[in-house]
Amino acid sequence: MVNALKHLAIIMDGNGRWAKQKGKIRTQGHKKGAKTIKEITTWCAKNNIAYLTLYAFSTENWNRPKSEVDFLMKLLEKYLIDEKKTYLQNNIRFKTIGNIEIFNQPLRRTIESLETETASNTALTQILALNYGSKDEIARACEKIITTNAYAKNPDMPQLIEAHLDTKGIPDVDLLIRTGGEMRLSNFLLWQASYAELFFSPILWPDFRADDLANIIEDFKSRKRRFGGL
Ligand code: FPP
Repeated sequence: MVNALKHLAIIMDGNGRWAKQKGKIRTQGHKKGAKTIKEITTWCAKNNIAYLTLYAFSTENWNRPKSEVDFLMKLLEKYLIDEKKTYLQNNIRFKTIGNIEIFNQPLRRTIESLETETASNTALTQILALNYGSKDEIARACEKIITTNAYAKNPDMPQLIEAHLDTKGIPDVDLLIRTGGEMRLSNFLLWQASYAELFFSPILWPDFRADDLANIIEDFKSRKRRFGGL
């Protein structure tokens, strides 16, 4: 039996280095990276993957220069507006995880209206992690459990945490890929990827193609997953 791949998660790293190698400014790498998001997402929609979670902006990314943060916010908004047709034509549902309350109103409205307009799409759910950090997500889940007194009603803590995470109702990550050669998880889906198969690719995100993903998935299918058993 080959492994089923329901939930694929990707840390899209290497935009800055891609730009540097080409003698361009860093933001050009992000722009090219957005094109890769489109290619990989539509490929997943056509290849029977149910959930694709992409690490688009972390809670730590605010530490970058303001000009780069501003660029990323504008690029995100433009992407969601320009690619609305891609979501609709390819039957892709759009969702976010992370705390988006901090974003400006127009961006929030764009996010929320795309979520609503694609809510009944069924080929793929694309989840963008925005102002996302695993520690922040788990801490917010615990706060909700305390403030709603949920533990008094159901004292099963792991189940309660699961039910209060941003990923509530979404299956755990099966395969987690990081592009760009670094070998770390950077505060991404630490709870949900507890038993994920990990794959680190040296390819920089703007150069990452659907064929590269297909090759990684072939490798994933043949891995032996034991989930702590034998
Ligand atoms: C890492 O590259 C990438 C990010 C900061 C997140 C991913 C962002 C994009 C793909 C841009 C487009 C996003 C959307 C949602 C339209 P890096 O800057 O850390 O690269 P480096 O490690 O080479 O410096």
